[in-house]
Amino acid sequence: MGYELILLAAGQGKRMFSTKNKILLELMGKPVIIHCMETFLADVYCQNIVLVAQEEELEVMQQIVQKYLPEQRNVEIVSGGKERQDSVFKGLNHIKDEAHYVLVHDGARPFVTPAILSSVYQALEKNQAVIAGVPVKDTIKRVSGMKVEETVPRDALWQIQTPQAFIGRELKQAHELARKQSFLGTDDASLIEKFGHRQVKVVMADYENIKLTTPEDLLIGEAILRKRMEQVER
Ligand code: CTP
Ligand code: MG
Repeated sequence: MGYELILLAAGQGKRMFSTKNKILLELMGKPVIIHCMETFLADVYCQNIVLVAQEEELEVMQQIVQKYLPEQRNVEIVSGGKERQDSVFKGLNHIKDEAHYVLVHDGARPFVTPAILSSVYQALEKNQAVIAGVPVKDTIKRVSGMKVEETVPRDALWQIQTPQAFIGRELKQAHELARKQSFLGTDDASLIEKFGHRQVKVVMADYENIKLTTPEDLLIGEAILRKRMEQVER
């Protein structure tokens, strides 16, 4: 059946404190967003990409895609919205087939691997709402006014990443209900949890599938890419 991808690049990257959107920064000579796209375009199940960009960056995104992926015909670049959720919603309006699977991925997660895509897709065939995540490693405490209120038992806590995968129509309906009720979730699964009719399943992803958020993440990112390049050369 395959899937369509909504790839999010319409943020501002404020916490990166860079002069440009973090999605456009180069890692090992290639923009972050291109690292993402290459992994998805190499996946046989990925049928097309809806790349959601800021209105003011539509042209530069177009140029970048043209430069790094000149042969690519399966990429549509569309404009995003104010919040991440608005950008996903706008992306959903460009999905070709709503009966199809849709994956949503943060463009700021360029280290997503073929293994993660494969785990998500396999789980998706059995359970039509799947998210990638990893067990929390640190101790988590609930803190208020810098005072500890409780230590949250860690065994049941997972750090959730993207990709997140759903049936297009179900995700769209959940987004429509969320908009009506002005509900803003931090990820897409939270909308399915609240407005959908399906249990969301988590698959084990990879600790390397980090989101580039603050400047030190770029150092970690370079190290991840360097390690992967060395593995290929060996
Ligand atoms: N995103 C988006 N549209 C928005 C906000 C975010 O498409 N209105 C995307 C970002 O481009 C990123 C992903 O959602 O790929 C995750 O968001 P985040 O890491 O918060 O990125 P930014 O919002 O760009 O960063 P910041 O919050 O630091 O400004
Ligand atoms: Mg943000």
